[in-house]
Amino acid sequence: MANDDKFKKVISHAKEYGYVFQSSEIYDGLSAVYDYAQNGAELKNNIRNYWWKAMVQMHENIVGIDAAIFMHPTTWKASGHVDAFNDPLIDNKDSKKRYRADVLVEDYCAKIEAKINKEVAKAAKRFGDAFNKEEFVSTNGRVLGYQEKIDSTLKRLGKSLENEDLADVKALIEELEIADPLSGSRNWTDVKQFNLMFGTKLGASADSAMDLYLRPETAQGIFVNFLNVQKTGRMKIPFGIAQTGKAFRNEIVARQFIFRMREFEQMEMQFFIKPGTQKEWFEYWKEHRLKWHKSLGMGDDNYRFHDHEKLAHYADAATDIEFNFPFGFKELEGIHSRTDFDLSQHEEYSGKKLQYFDHEDNASYTPYVLETSIGLDRMFLAVFSNSLQEEELDNGTTRTVLKLPAVLAPTKAAILPLVKKDGLPDIAKQIVEDLKWDFNVVYDEKDAVGRRYRRQDAVGTPYCITVDHDTLEDNTVTIRHRDTMEQKRVKIDELRSIIKKEVDVREWLMKM
Ligand code: GAP
Repeated sequence: MANDDKFKKVISHAKEYGYVFQSSEIYDGLSAVYDYAQNGAELKNNIRNYWWKAMVQMHENIVGIDAAIFMHPTTWKASGHVDAFNDPLIDNKDSKKRYRADVLVEDYCAKIEAKINKEVAKAAKRFGDAFNKEEFVSTNGRVLGYQEKIDSTLKRLGKSLENEDLADVKALIEELEIADPLSGSRNWTDVKQFNLMFGTKLGASADSAMDLYLRPETAQGIFVNFLNVQKTGRMKIPFGIAQTGKAFRNEIVARQFIFRMREFEQMEMQFFIKPGTQKEWFEYWKEHRLKWHKSLGMGDDNYRFHDHEKLAHYADAATDIEFNFPFGFKELEGIHSRTDFDLSQHEEYSGKKLQYFDHEDNASYTPYVLETSIGLDRMFLAVFSNSLQEEELDNGTTRTVLKLPAVLAPTKAAILPLVKKDGLPDIAKQIVEDLKWDFNVVYDEKDAVGRRYRRQDAVGTPYCITVDHDTLEDNTVTIRHRDTMEQKRVKIDELRSIIKKEVDVREWLMKM
């Protein structure tokens, strides 16, 4: 399936099978805002729990908090978001469409990268087993030319953005002859900065109401609580504070379904370390987070690191874990070495000391921070889009199957009476009653059993359990596996342990 078609299929499947709905759909929706439906909410909870288990409960030195969305407005002055949380925007005068100027340039580079990949694929086909990719990309003249173009373009973009030289960003767009992707027009306005925070008010009366922002990241709720947690938890450096929660950004170029939303959820962890150790912790968390992703078995080749050329105002090193979405490799998670920027800023703006006394060194210091930050909705999209597959079957038909990692699947098993009579529904319902203490399971008696299998395949349920007339004789049922479609006869008593083996968080996290 072509990538565009695949992505359209992902969006329509998410709606049809109760995963994601457009927000306020009966009023024609709200742009870049989405609601999670009955299966989506379960999948989202399971992803969040998988992260929380790995990051908080499996680490003795990491604790979790749940800070408020509203924060004192000075927080955002201190963090730099009031002054520096901007996107460089450019308008096309003909189409009246607005774009992120840096994204236009990055998309231009992505197109050149696609050309490199094409050359590599062609050469791999030509040379067969003798093909050495590394050698090819470092010697082939055409590839080297493309790579040089990408490197010099991104370098110039990074420098212009860092120096706030927006005129040069526009000049770059013009020199590269970048056109509006919709209209093809090259009639651009100047590039302007636009702050992404949503403002709101706290208080009833107009004169006394306080101007607030909806938090654009969850991280600041952790920084302002650093000392509270350190003291009450008697935490010793290095230690981490994690949380999951909503964040809000007035994204101008909100697109690609739940990839870039205005209201979204983050799962962040701030790891407080001794100054000078940030390089080794940066490497540690890069590797650790990649292992977490890979533990879900979604294809090791679908991940890559992308080191930042242009660093955010708070970072001395940063990388993204990119995932191969249906529209190409894009950021899924950020790993940032944030230095002591945030704690020092909050010290300065609040006038309160946010230092750590190190008993080993007999000295106080402001800790440095290593951050891991992943968008829950983006992770949802990665899991969902990667799992959606069309399979050709031996009998010439196709099936649509959502091969979600079983640990994340909303429903772990569907219990199906073969027919709606002869006492089979009662046994099936009894199995549901029994299993629901341990797993999310459903009862389904509508339609022929084959159609029920297909329905559960499309929802992503790892197991279907069918109760038939033999069950009345010997207490056995047929258990069918979603991915292999293999069917086995097992005792009802064995069901719990069979399902547990497949869906248990422990089994999956052990792969890290
Ligand atoms: N505290 C650091 C921070 O917020 P970020 O790179 O701006 O860093 C971290 O965001 C992660 O949050 C991203 O890697 C992405 O997964 C997710 N994210 C950011 N903006 C988003 C948006 N508008 N919609 C959905 N997810 C978003």
